Parts: sequence; structure tokens; C-alpha cells
Amino acid sequence: MVDRKRFWKEKKVLVTGFEGFVGSHLTKALTGYGARVTGLDIKTLRKETILCPDDYKRIKVYQGSVASGAFVRGILRKHPPQVIFHLAAESIVGRSRENPLAAFTSNIAGSWEILDACRELPGLQALIVASSDKAYGAGKKLPYLETDPLLANHPYDVSKSCADLIAGTYAHTYGLPVTIIRCGNIYGPGDFNFSRLIPDALRCRVKGNILPVRSDGKYVRDYVYISDIIDGYLRAAELFKRKRLCGEAFNLSDQRPVTVIQLLQKINRLNLCTRPLKYKIMNTAKYEIRRQYLSAHKAGRVLGWRPVYDLEHGLKAAAQWYFNYFSSKS
Ligand SMILES: NC(=O)c1ccc[n+]([C@@H]2O[C@H](COP(=O)([O-])OP(=O)(O)OC[C@H]3O[C@@H](n4cnc5c(N)ncnc54)[C@H](O)[C@@H]3O)[C@@H](O)[C@H]2O)c1
Repeated sequence: MVDRKRFWKEKKVLVTGFEGFVGSHLTKALTGYGARVTGLDIKTLRKETILCPDDYKRIKVYQGSVASGAFVRGILRKHPPQVIFHLAAESIVGRSRENPLAAFTSNIAGSWEILDACRELPGLQALIVASSDKAYGAGKKLPYLETDPLLANHPYDVSKSCADLIAGTYAHTYGLPVTIIRCGNIYGPGDFNFSRLIPDALRCRVKGNILPVRSDGKYVRDYVYISDIIDGYLRAAELFKRKRLCGEAFNLSDQRPVTVIQLLQKINRLNLCTRPLKYKIMNTAKYEIRRQYLSAHKAGRVLGWRPVYDLEHGLKAAAQWYFNYFSSKS
């Protein structure tokens, strides 16, 4: 096990998408360990973020698109990083379907611009790329393994398969120190993407609204708590050299898949001083995969990664956070 504080102290790190859900948690963790973080995002200084003024004092902030090669190269020249976490993406499935060109530009072109610019960075030790369970598409065999083919069919999913394959090629062909992380559904405090099921369900439970369920309620997914995901990302960078992770991909999952209805029942069992959540099955979901979950066996074996939070504990922590957040707003 690497001494985390020692590893990150004074390390020069670039986080793309640093103001997003995962990026903001990762940025907070990295600055907490003493890393020198440069944060890049298309939208910065937004109202809804867990980053506070003190965090911003500790990071160098750049606003712009990862799909702009000149912008990316300029930042890398000015602040050559030792580690990069490439998280920036259009991360919402529905928005990607409505505007595929924007999703492909951010997710595919944005990834190749970062990857290609890194060929000019001799001091780069690790480049960790955020892929997704969606990159696998609708595989027949469950749980998905890292060796399964990437066979996506729809815009967001395809954008992640493409970026994942392109990242792999920069490792295999050009020897770039790339590792790919494929997560199931991440949840926890500070996710302001309310089109996602857990933030929306917790908001509805706190506010007493009826939750519209897009699917028939029987879709199966795995859910991983945010701090476990951050631990997985950090481990991939910390162990990159020792474990020779160049070109490797890792699934991160709690390996306890549930249906949407089972998840909502768990949310209703949480001891919150609000009325139980009511929901309405809309059954309008289109082009979404019915059953999807990952094996995290490889991450356990190679990275020593194991989720600390099970769904009950993670939901409890997330619910408490959303409860406080909405209470402070009303
Ligand atoms: N949250 C999940 O459940 C989940 C699961 C699997 C994979 N992922 C992947 O993890 C990464 C982070 O996800 P998240 O949940 O934090 O999403 P998010 O939407 O909260 O964060 C993504 C960030 O990227 C920024 N961004 C978008 N396009 C950009 C561009 N062209 N240039 C620069 N910045 C841009 C956004 O402004 C946002 O701050 C994404 O790559 C996503 O695809 C997320």
C-alpha cells in the first residue's frame, strides 16, 4: 500500500471536468493530500458545487473545452502535470441523445486532444481516463469483465466506447501511461445532476414530490458510493508504476446489482423525517440497456480496491446530505 499523503504531496495534477460531481470530490481529496491541482472545465465557478472558496484558492482554474487542442496544449505547457485525471465529458445519457454532436465532440474529440497533447509531456507518470460501464453496450454475459468487447450502440455509450478504445491505443501504440476506469452508477453528496435517478429520488423524497421513473422499474444496475470511486481513481495513479498498469482497464462496482424498484424501496426504508417517496412508472425509457452490472474482481486483485460503502450506508449518507442541502435552501 502506497503512503497516500506522501505520494500526492506537491504532486502536479491536472483534473479535467474538475467542477463536475466526480471531479469536485477528486479535487477536494487531492488538495487535501497536498497536491498542486490545475482544474479545467467548460463551466467554472458554478453555484452548485461542493468546492468552497478555500478550495478555489488552492487550485489553478481554467475555463474552456477539452475539445480545443490549442487550449489544452497551452495549459499543459504552462503547468506540465505528473498525473492527469481525464473526467471531462457530457455525462448525461439523455442530453447526449438530444445532441450527439456535442457529446461526441466533448467525449471523443476531447479525449483525443488530451491524449495526443500528452505525447509531448515527458514527465507524465499516469493518465487516468474516465470510461463507463456504458462503454460495453448491451453485452449478453453478466457481470461485464474488462476483457469483454466494447459494443455500444447509442450516443453516450458509443462516445465512451470510442474514448476508451482511443485511450487504449495511446497506451499500446505510443506507450502513454494510460489506465482506464469503467464505473457503474456513482452516487453520493454533491451530485447536482438531477436527471440521474438517485439525486432525483432523494430530492423528491425530501421535497415530497412524485418521482417519475423513466423505465418500467425493472432495469438492473450497480451503484457505487463516491468516496469509493475516488479511492479507486487514486489507487490507479498511485500503483501505476509498481503494478505496470499501462493500457489496463478496471471496472469499479459494488457487485450488488438492484432493480430501480428495489433501489427506491431502499430509499424509502431510510430513516428521514419526511414522508415516504412516491413514484410513477412512466415506462418511456428508450435505447437504455435493461440489465447491466460489472465485475470488480480485477480492481480487487490488482489495486486492492474494495468498496467500503454498501448501498444502505451510502444511501443514508447521501440522503442526509441532500436533506441538509435542501433544508438550507428553503
Ligand atoms: N456519475 C456516474 O455515474 C458515472 C458513471 C460512469 C462514468 N462516469 C464518467 O465519469 C466522468 C465524470 O462524471 P460526473 O458524474 O462527474 O459528470 P459531471 O457531468 O458531473 O461532470 C463532468 C464535467 O465535465 C465538464 N465538461 C463537459 N464537457 C466538457 C468539455 N468539452 N470540456 C471541459 N469540460 C467539460 C462538465 O462541465 C462537468 O463539470 C465522466 O467522464 C463520466 O462519463 C460517470
